[in-house]
Amino acid sequence: MVSSATSPGSPAVTVRVPAKLNLQLAVGPVRGDGYHPLVTVFHAVSLFDEVTVRPASRTSITITGEDAAAVPADKTNLAWQAAAALARSARRTQRDSGIRIEIRKRIPVAAGLAGGSADAAAVLVACNELWQTGLSSGELRQIGGGLGSDVPFALLGGTAVGRGRGEDLTRALAAGNYHWALAFGQSGLSTAQVYATWDRLRAARAQGPEASPAAGPELSPELMTALRSGDPAAVGPLLSNDLQPAALSLRPELRRTLAAGSEFGALGAIVSGSGPTCAFLAKDAAHARDIAVALTGAGVCRAVARASGPAPGAAIVKPDRRA
Ligand code: C5P
Repeated sequence: MVSSATSPGSPAVTVRVPAKLNLQLAVGPVRGDGYHPLVTVFHAVSLFDEVTVRPASRTSITITGEDAAAVPADKTNLAWQAAAALARSARRTQRDSGIRIEIRKRIPVAAGLAGGSADAAAVLVACNELWQTGLSSGELRQIGGGLGSDVPFALLGGTAVGRGRGEDLTRALAAGNYHWALAFGQSGLSTAQVYATWDRLRAARAQGPEASPAAGPELSPELMTALRSGDPAAVGPLLSNDLQPAALSLRPELRRTLAAGSEFGALGAIVSGSGPTCAFLAKDAAHARDIAVALTGAGVCRAVARASGPAPGAAIVKPDRRA
């Protein structure tokens, strides 16, 4: 933790920002810039981090809550970089852009839930308010896309189709509410390592008998139709994640977690993004609680949580301008 000088009573802005799941994650062969072209269906869920920013003589960052010790409290934190990117874009001098950033984490770190991207998105919204920068949500998403592939979606929230690296977003026509049980893994997975494993698995498959011509990733029309119906029983069997085999090869124990969720009646069971969180779609809120209790009893994960979606994107909860 880093201490910083803030004046008592200085204005503070608090933003709440959701975790994301990928209802579909289709991945294409790696591009020249090292990223993979994606088509993904993002879905924001009600597992929120909270971020407060207030003016300070120099920038600092403190993290409390879930996995706080695993999060860097320095310039390497994406939330810090978000403040610097917004200050540059608004042409604020270094003297005028010192802030204290306080992150209260509930989204586990390196879990496939885009928690780091969420905190960066929260800082963009908070600083836009604190500095009265007046940037539009589209402009904030543009800056967010330069910070990380999942940052624009953390700003948008809801359910949306992501293309490109994931940063090119279109809102999805989705009805209803979806209730989830989330099983957190014993330790995090590096997104870059999961993509590198996916590359290796793909290269091995290309040499085997099941080799197929390289195809670009495509949106599942069946999933989009099911989402429009608002029926979780239709959505559940259509959840898909191309990164799942890579996550399972790095964490074979997740097979047990997924199997346990299915055994307990989940409508769909999937690794979230690059993992290791497993997400289980339930019939309703009570069913999500039953699945969460059963997963805990089976001892197939570190911890469980319940969440529902779609949740809103990063939003101010406490504009506090008492000077
Ligand atoms: O964009 P972000 O910083 O979140 O990505 C983290 C890492 O995940 C990248 O460095 C890259 O290795 C991998 N990645 C990828 N293709 C994407 C998104 C992320 O290969 N579309």
